[in-house]
Amino acid sequence: MSLTVYAPASMGNVGVGFDLLGAALAPIDGTLLGDCVSIEPALTGISLSLAGHWADKLPVDAADNIVYQCAEFFLAQLESQAGIAMTLEKNLPVGSGLGSSASSVVAALYALNEYFDRPFDEQALLRLMGEFEGKISGSVHYDNVAPCYLGGMQLMLDVPHSVCEGLPVFKQWYWVVAYPGISLSTAKMRALLPEVYDKSVAIDFGRYLSAFVHASYKQDASLAIAVLKDVLAEPYRASEIPGYEQARAALAELGMLTTGISGSGPTLFSVTDDLATAQAAQAWLDSHYVKQGVGFSHICQIDTQGTRRVD
Ligand code: HSE
Repeated sequence: MSLTVYAPASMGNVGVGFDLLGAALAPIDGTLLGDCVSIEPALTGISLSLAGHWADKLPVDAADNIVYQCAEFFLAQLESQAGIAMTLEKNLPVGSGLGSSASSVVAALYALNEYFDRPFDEQALLRLMGEFEGKISGSVHYDNVAPCYLGGMQLMLDVPHSVCEGLPVFKQWYWVVAYPGISLSTAKMRALLPEVYDKSVAIDFGRYLSAFVHASYKQDASLAIAVLKDVLAEPYRASEIPGYEQARAALAELGMLTTGISGSGPTLFSVTDDLATAQAAQAWLDSHYVKQGVGFSHICQIDTQGTRRVD
């Protein structure tokens, strides 16, 4: 058998939930914004071919690629001598804040699990995804792999029986995302953050995140927007993302409800419930934030399907 798996782009943090909240993205024009991994039988060993717009930014040696390492791990765990030929179609830029490494890892592990008749259950596979993604980003945080795998907006629980739980989403919201075209290392963007926060910041963080979760269950969109604030990361990261602060101000002028950093940046997200406003925001971002030829923008809704077979 051969199969192809698609794993969507995702926004870590979603502003208000540093390391604890994440959402999968589905462009409303139907674009598949995420990496694909294919597996087919081969005579012996593991091979990995690279394809897709962003493939040239990946390690040249296949053995250094996380997708290859996922396959090595899988075959070792299963004590399998099977030969497999894998292809990674790299459709997300590395270091973009769109969960690029998560997308590759999740697509690979999901595809391997399907190919070998599901030896791992959902929770075990998710923990494996977190561990492998952590090798690239420098620390284990599930806010990209969980929504990428399961879809929707996911709140991290990290209790023994459950990594995360889906939150109700605001179906009327459009998330305009814009990737300016530069790459930022998650590890470096994490190093900008203080080791210790003031008590008042800790209280604000708890208040905003708990109020956002409450508002999601109540479907109180105006409360959700009022508390969708990032007090942990944005104050330390904003100035490191060229043009971010100007874009944030301009998007507010255009009537966008709130704007934040997607993951550790440089992609930004901006929210509205009005399509015409989303289109105006996208046009502004395309001419002021996105570098021609290397960056891009999309008007998205939340992807509710998560990772899936597309063969
Ligand atoms: N929660 C992580 C961070 C996401 O902001 O560092 C990285 O994509």
